[in-house]
Amino acid sequence: MPQAVVVIGVQWGDEGKGKIVDQYSEWADVVGRFQGGNNAGHTLVVNGKQTILHLIPSGVLHPHTKCFIGSGVVVDPVVFLHEIETLKAAGHKDLESRIYLSDRCHVILDYHKALDAAREGAKGGTTIGTTKRGIGPAYEDRAARRGIRVTDLLRDGFVEKFRSNLAEKNVLLEKLYGAPVISEKEQLDKYREVGIRLAPYVRDVSNLLYEEIQAGKKILYEGAQGVLLDIDYGTYPFVTSSHTLPSQCALGLGARKPKETVFVGVMKAYTTRVGSGPFPTELRDAMGEQLRESGAEFGATTGRPRRCGWLDLVAVRYALRVSGIQHLTMTKADVLSGLKELKVCTAYKLDGRILDTFPNDAGDLERVEPVYETLEGWATDLKEIKKAADIPTPLKKYIAFIQNFTGAEVGSVSTGPGRENVIEISRPF
Ligand code: IMP
Repeated sequence: MPQAVVVIGVQWGDEGKGKIVDQYSEWADVVGRFQGGNNAGHTLVVNGKQTILHLIPSGVLHPHTKCFIGSGVVVDPVVFLHEIETLKAAGHKDLESRIYLSDRCHVILDYHKALDAAREGAKGGTTIGTTKRGIGPAYEDRAARRGIRVTDLLRDGFVEKFRSNLAEKNVLLEKLYGAPVISEKEQLDKYREVGIRLAPYVRDVSNLLYEEIQAGKKILYEGAQGVLLDIDYGTYPFVTSSHTLPSQCALGLGARKPKETVFVGVMKAYTTRVGSGPFPTELRDAMGEQLRESGAEFGATTGRPRRCGWLDLVAVRYALRVSGIQHLTMTKADVLSGLKELKVCTAYKLDGRILDTFPNDAGDLERVEPVYETLEGWATDLKEIKKAADIPTPLKKYIAFIQNFTGAEVGSVSTGPGRENVIEISRPF
C-alpha cells in the first residue's frame, strides 16, 4: 500500500484529472497542488451537482481531507478568495482549518494578466493561445527575482515592491503594447484588503506537509495541465510556464515525497488540445466536430472550443517515458461509443521516414503525418456497466492495445462525468 499517489495528465491537459482526484480523495488525508495556477479547470460532478475548481485542490469536496497549495503554484488571490466564497455558499464548512496556502507562493497580480493579454494580442509574436490568467508573467517575475509572494501581501514591504514592479509593467504595457496603464492607488487599496482576507489561510505548507508525511498520513498530489504542456518536456514554446511532471510534486510542495509513491497518468480515450501548437492527430472535419460536441470539449477555464483528434499513442508513450508513469486511467471512453471504427496513432511519417518517437522540435511535430491502426468500435452505452467483466469486447481490445503499446496498465475506465461513472479494472493502490 503506497503512502502517496501523484495524479498527472499525460496529454495536453483536460484529461479529466479533477474527477480522478475526487475519486482518490476518499483514500487520502491530504490533497496538494504543486504547480500551475488558475489556468487549470477541474470539473467535478457529485450527485448531479457540478463544481469547477481552478485553484483549490479537487479533494476539498471530501470534508475529511486537508488541502495544501504549495510554493510551486502561482496564486491569483482574488480567484482563491472567490473559490472559497463559492464553496462556503455551497455549504462547505471549516475551510480555514482545511485549506492551507503556502506563504512562498508567487502572487498573480492584475499587471500579470494585463501583460499576458497584451502579449497574446501583439502582432508579429508567437501566439501561444494562453488562458490569459497571467501565469507566464508571474513565473517570469519569480525567475527574475522580482516576484511578489503571498508573504509579501501580508507585510508593509508590499507597497515598495509593488510600486517598483508596476512602474516597469506600465512602461511595457503603454510603450510596447499600446495597452492601458494600471492605476497604482486603486491597486494598493485592492491588494491591502485582499491580504487581510487571505491571512487566515496562509501557512508554512512545506513544514505542515513534512509533519503529515512523518505521521504516516496519505498524500494525494494533484497535477494540473499535462506532460505535453511541461515547460521543458512539452511542445515548447506551446507549453505552460511550469513543470507538470510528477517529479515536480516534492519541489512544488516543499517536502520530500514518501518512499512508496505511485504515479497515475490520466489519459483521455482520444486527444484534445486548447490553444496553439502542434497536434498530429487533430481532426479538422466532421469527426472532430462530433467529438467536440459529444465530449462537451469546451474549456472549463476559458470556454474555448478544444481541438479534437484520435488517440495519439506515440505522444502518450513519450509522456510515460519522461514522467515515469506506469499506471493509466482512461477517461471519456463513453464519448467514443457508437463509432464503428476508431483510429489510433502508432507512428509518424516525417519527410518520408517513419518515426516511432515523439520529436523534440515543435516545428518537426507540426509537419509529421500520423500513421494509424484502425480498431473496432463499440455500440454499448457504457454508463450502465459497473464491472470489468461486462466491458464490451471491442473496448477490451482497445484497452489491451493501449497497454501493449505503452507498457502501462489501464486500471480504470471512466464512462461519464459523475463520481459513480467508473469501471474499476485493477486499482494501482
Ligand atoms: P498558460 O498556462 O495560460 O500560459 O497557457 C499556455 C498553454 O497551456 C495554452 O495552450 C493553454 O491553452 C494551455 N493550458 C494551460 N492550462 C491548461 C489546462 O488546465 N488545460 C489545458 N490546457 C491548458
